[in-house]
Order: sequence, then structure tokens, then C-alpha cells
Amino acid sequence: MDILVAEDHPVSAKLLEKILLRAGHRVHLAADGEEAWDLLLKKDVRILLTDWMMPRLDGLSLCRRVRETLSGSYVYIILLTARDATEDLLSGFEAGADDYIAKPVNPDELMARIRVGLRHLAMEDRHEKTLRKLLNTEKMASLGHLAAGMAHEINNPLSFLASNIRTLGKYAKEVQAFFAAYQALAGAIEPKDTKTEQILQKMQALEASAEIAYILEDVPALVSESGEGIERIGNIVEDMRIFTHPGSLTPHMADIGQCITEGLSLAEKKHGKTAPVQKDLADLPPLFCYPGQLRQALFNICINALQSLNEGGEIHIRTCRSDNQHIVIQIRDTGCGIEPDLLPKIFDPFFTTRPAGRGTGLGLHVAYTLIQQHGGHIEVHSEPGKGSTFRIHLPTEGIKVQKISQHTPQKPQDLP
Ligand SMILES: Nc1ncnc2c1ncn2[C@@H]1O[C@H](COP(=O)(O)OP(=O)(O)OP(=O)(O)O)[C@@H](O)[C@H]1O
Ligand SMILES: [Mg+2]
Repeated sequence: MDILVAEDHPVSAKLLEKILLRAGHRVHLAADGEEAWDLLLKKDVRILLTDWMMPRLDGLSLCRRVRETLSGSYVYIILLTARDATEDLLSGFEAGADDYIAKPVNPDELMARIRVGLRHLAMEDRHEKTLRKLLNTEKMASLGHLAAGMAHEINNPLSFLASNIRTLGKYAKEVQAFFAAYQALAGAIEPKDTKTEQILQKMQALEASAEIAYILEDVPALVSESGEGIERIGNIVEDMRIFTHPGSLTPHMADIGQCITEGLSLAEKKHGKTAPVQKDLADLPPLFCYPGQLRQALFNICINALQSLNEGGEIHIRTCRSDNQHIVIQIRDTGCGIEPDLLPKIFDPFFTTRPAGRGTGLGLHVAYTLIQQHGGHIEVHSEPGKGSTFRIHLPTEGIKVQKISQHTPQKPQDLP
């Protein structure tokens, strides 16, 4: 623990330093209040031992400044004082001190009070951590709520858009066929009089001014692009649906190797490009799980791996037992890797480094949530320019019974 001793008397300061160093703490010394303040701003000090009377800034003013200005982790303050009048002590506590110790300092008493301070700080840190977790849970819950609402609202209009676009595509083909026949017939007409000739010329001029041939040529491309756009929105909505309701299927016994093969092949299809994949799959017993969810998690990790690869890149998939209670699925790519400062963010919902419209940033969050639902976790190691390794740890006993009690468990069966 970093402890700051603010004491203008060099001999007392050295004595305190010696006691604290012996107890294994890191000690910083300041000869007056201002110097102590500078160190508080620079170092990660958690306990401040401050003399009352000091040049430039006295102990009480230092206490006040710490409480009024310093944000971040709590600093536990112990006043060193020769004063023991109740009013003096009260003004010390009033200024923000947590404890005091009378001078000359008794080493055992000092260490006992430091231990009280450490207990206080441990409680403070636990409280802070719980609060942060709570805030995060609340944030995630409202985000989930929002995403669920959006996914539901988008799904309906999307399905009739998809259906209409398909019909439009069919109509466009019929109009194209009609137009080709019409042009063939119009071309076959041999004008016998000037009136027919004029009509034919007018028809050709109309055709040219309306750019019918160009329109009919462009329509299929527009229809197909719209179809792709709709499919992309559909995928995002599907990710959001899993993100908000990740547990809607029925659990049963499944072969992990098969889940991997299916997840990978779906990823290859979606990515549109394959890459050399080396598989080293152990002979693992079937796992009681939600196979659809495992496939989804594996798909999300595999597609990221495929997207990370440059020319000549490879993917290595390995499974093994890490101990009697856990299996590990390792997916390693030799792709672009992840910068260390981005690594802590990759499982956050909506975190993406892909260009706009190319990624929702839900893939890994969904994968993490699904694996967590199975009592497992994912770890990741990555080196920029060399590649990334995602390791999925799963309990061999499969998902816990209480988790699936809300669903009707099925008899062991093969994967669909
Ligand atoms: N194997 C990998 N190699 C390099 N970067 C990766 C890898 N896997 C994930 N990432 C990084 O983590 C980010 C988040 O991944 P995630 O799968 O959650 O979202 P995404 O791929 O951007 O979008 P989508 O929702 O379409 O999956 C990616 O944008 C990418 O920067
Ligand atoms: Mg992804």
C-alpha cells in the first residue's frame, strides 16, 4: 500500500518511514502540506499520515483540500498530533481526518491504526465495486430492454419488406420478358405507309426518352441490393434478439465437435470466403447444453477469426479437457490481432472497429452471454499483427439443472 507521510520534522519522518517500510508498505515523504498535496496528485496514495502543524499548508487545511478536491479512490487520513483536547480532535475530524494518533508515536499503536485504515479501505473498495457492478447491470438491463423493443418493432415491417422485394424481383423479370417480346414484335413490323412509320418512330422515341431498356437492366441489381440490405438488417435484428433473449431453445445432449463444424461452416458461408482450418478435436463426451446457442457463439467467434485474416492466414481449432470438470474450445487465428487498449472493450455490446454498416459490435457480447449461460467463460489473448486466440471454457456437466428447470428437458438426442 502507498502511504504518504507529511511531517516537517525530519527525525520523526524518518522514524515513521522506517516503521512503515518494515511492515512492507511503500512510503512517500513530504516536508510540508503543499509538497504532500503534490504527491497526492501524482501517486496512488491510499493512506495519508499528516502532522498537524506544518509550514505552507497545515494538516487540517490539507485534510479539507483532500476531501473537497480529490476525486478517485478514497484516501484514509490519520492526523499526527500532540494535541489531545477534545475540541482540537473534533476540528480534526470535522476537517476530514478519519483517525488520529498522539505524538510521540508508538510503533505498535501506529501499525494497529494502519490496519484499521486498511480494513476501512477494503470495505470502501468493495462498496465501490458493487456500486459499479450495479450501475453496469442497470445500464445493461435498460440497453437490453431498448434492443428488445427495437428488434420487435423492426421485425414486422422487415418481413413484409423482404416479401415485397421478392415479389418485385419476380415482377421485374416478367416485365423484362414482356419488353423483350415487345421489342422483337416492334422490330418485325415493316411499315407499309407513312402513318405506321410515324407511329413506329414515336414508339422508339418514347422508349429512348423513358430509358426503358436501362431501367429494366438496372431493376434486378436494385432488387438484389435491397434484398442484401434487408438480409443485413435481419441479421442485426437476430443478434439483438439473442442479445435480449438468449435462452429460448430446448437443452439436450449434443456433440461439441459437431457444434464447432456447423458454427464454422455457417461462418464460412456468411463470410463468403474460406480459409485453411486445422482442427484438432479431442474425443469429448456429449454435453447437455443448448446446441443452437453454442453454435451461435462459435459462429460469432469463427466469423471474427475469418474476418481478421489476411492473405495466407489460417485458423486452428482445438478442443481438450482442461481438468475433470471443464472442457476448452480454442479458436486461434493468425489474423490482424487486437490492440491491447481495445482488448478490454471487445465484449462490450455495440463495440466494433468495423466500418459503418459492417458490424454491430454484438457478436462477441452475444457469444460471451451464451457461454456464461452455460456456466462457462471466454478468455482472449491477442497480439497485433500476429493473431488472436479465443478460449471457451465450459463445465463438462453442462448447464445447471436449475437453469433449465423453466424449460422441458428432452431425452438425449442427436443434433437436428
Ligand atoms: N479474431 C479477431 N481478430 C481481430 N479482431 C477481433 C477478433 N475478434 C473480435 N475482434 C475485434 O472485436 C470487435 C468486436 O467484435 P464483435 O464480434 O463483438 O463485433 P463485430 O465483429 O465488430 O460486429 P458483429 O456484430 O457483426 O459481429 C471487432 O470489431 C474487432 O475489432
Ligand atoms: Mg463479429
